[in-house]
Amino acid sequence: MDKIVSLSKRRGFVYQSSEIYGGLNGCWDYGPLGVDLLRNIKDQWWQAMTYREDIEGIDASILMHPKVWEASGHVENFTDPMVDCRECKARFRTDVLMESVSLKGLREAAAKIPELQKQAGSSDEQLRELAASEPFFALLIAEGTLACPNCGRRGTFTPARKFNLMFKTFVGPVEDSSAVVYLRPETAQGIYVNFLNVLSSSRQKIPFGIAQVGKAFRNEINTKNFLFRTREFEQMEMQFFVKPGSDEEWFSRWKEARLQWFVDLGMRKEKLRFHRHEKEKLAHYAKDAYDIEYEFPFGWGEIEGIHNRTDYDLTRHSEFSGKSMAYFDEQSKERYVPYIIETSAGASRSLMAFLIDAYREEEAPTADGKAGTRVVLKLHPKLAPVKAAVFPLVNREGMPDVARKIEAAIRPHFRVFYDDSGAVGRRYRRQDEAGTPFCITVDSQTLADQTVTVRDRDTMVQERIAADAAVQYLGGRIRG
Ligand code: GAP
Repeated sequence: MDKIVSLSKRRGFVYQSSEIYGGLNGCWDYGPLGVDLLRNIKDQWWQAMTYREDIEGIDASILMHPKVWEASGHVENFTDPMVDCRECKARFRTDVLMESVSLKGLREAAAKIPELQKQAGSSDEQLRELAASEPFFALLIAEGTLACPNCGRRGTFTPARKFNLMFKTFVGPVEDSSAVVYLRPETAQGIYVNFLNVLSSSRQKIPFGIAQVGKAFRNEINTKNFLFRTREFEQMEMQFFVKPGSDEEWFSRWKEARLQWFVDLGMRKEKLRFHRHEKEKLAHYAKDAYDIEYEFPFGWGEIEGIHNRTDYDLTRHSEFSGKSMAYFDEQSKERYVPYIIETSAGASRSLMAFLIDAYREEEAPTADGKAGTRVVLKLHPKLAPVKAAVFPLVNREGMPDVARKIEAAIRPHFRVFYDDSGAVGRRYRRQDEAGTPFCITVDSQTLADQTVTVRDRDTMVQERIAADAAVQYLGGRIRG
């Protein structure tokens, strides 16, 4: 992980937000390479979703009517229980705190409390489950058996309180409760409130979907693991509206399609898996839910959620707005509130997974033939921020002029980088680290027969192509 964070900063993928002021926790900035990688991920998603007949795109505003969040259940339910240490003032999310207690510690603590003595003998798995439940936790707190991980004192925790994760702000000049609005914690609600608008303006018929990419904000108590859990992030969400009864089939179709999307963009299949949510842990709106998980260096973590949201959202918005969200099916002459199958991916979290998956350290001889290691980002050419680098082998014999001409021919089509400094081996290594899939070199043979070498980042094999065919060659290799 440290290597990824350091490469990200060194090569201009991701920087800490407001770094010169010490940074702002849970916020990150994308540098020159990162912004293109992020854009390419979003573009690939947008193409996969909206370059088809049955999905429309929208871009809703971040600030929405506060009633939206009452209807969605976020005002009431989008909370994490947390406790404060009265002594050192550190604040913890209860589930995170419980994870930090060893099984032995949990057993010992439970054994001291009459109501929990029986449960202290449960299996490891059961004990972890129990520890996540509120009554168990509340007793541990009340009995003062847990030590604060920060100051080590016992009996200093406040009872657990609910903490809403939505950021609040005010519209207009008066900062009172009637002016409160929220920064959206998910993009999905912007789609639901526009369901009727899109339906009538696009003349779509059910089943159809609405896709959106945009920023979301959550006041996470514990931000962690680089881009994994941040306070400001981007989501790529698609809500597919279906007839009740066909929801399970669509759910399973979208689930498979979404995992395949990551694989098609080069993510190793063995690093991906589905995790089904247990019934008791389903979100308040869901009938069924799967996470697509990636195996990060810190363990498996969700990169996308596929949810069967039933008719919960449209029904709630009908109730709260007074506008019917029912759909009239012309063919069957039925009226119903559609079910929603949601695919909800984090753009920034996916970027981190793509970066980690692409990062390799490989044995490769140095320019002078010695054994060495190269760092290479094996990003799919469609995602790579820079598609090609162009080098003159040496800065004489007219090679820079030819190389500049090739660069100029490529530039209108693909992001290209020109580099004439240092040994060519070093230039290749620099591009390997940036994930550039192709390096084009002008050498003395170019001057004789107008061909150039193209080096493939992953195999390091070079082939010769006609210099004036560079754009066509890159197009074929990138688009596949
Ligand atoms: N509309 C449903 C929804 O928002 P979610 O599971 O809370 O579901 C979906 O979030 C995706 O958004 C996650 O799989 C993750 O990729 C991303 N995400 C959620 N919270 C995040 C955070 N704090 N930082 C970065 N990405 C986050």
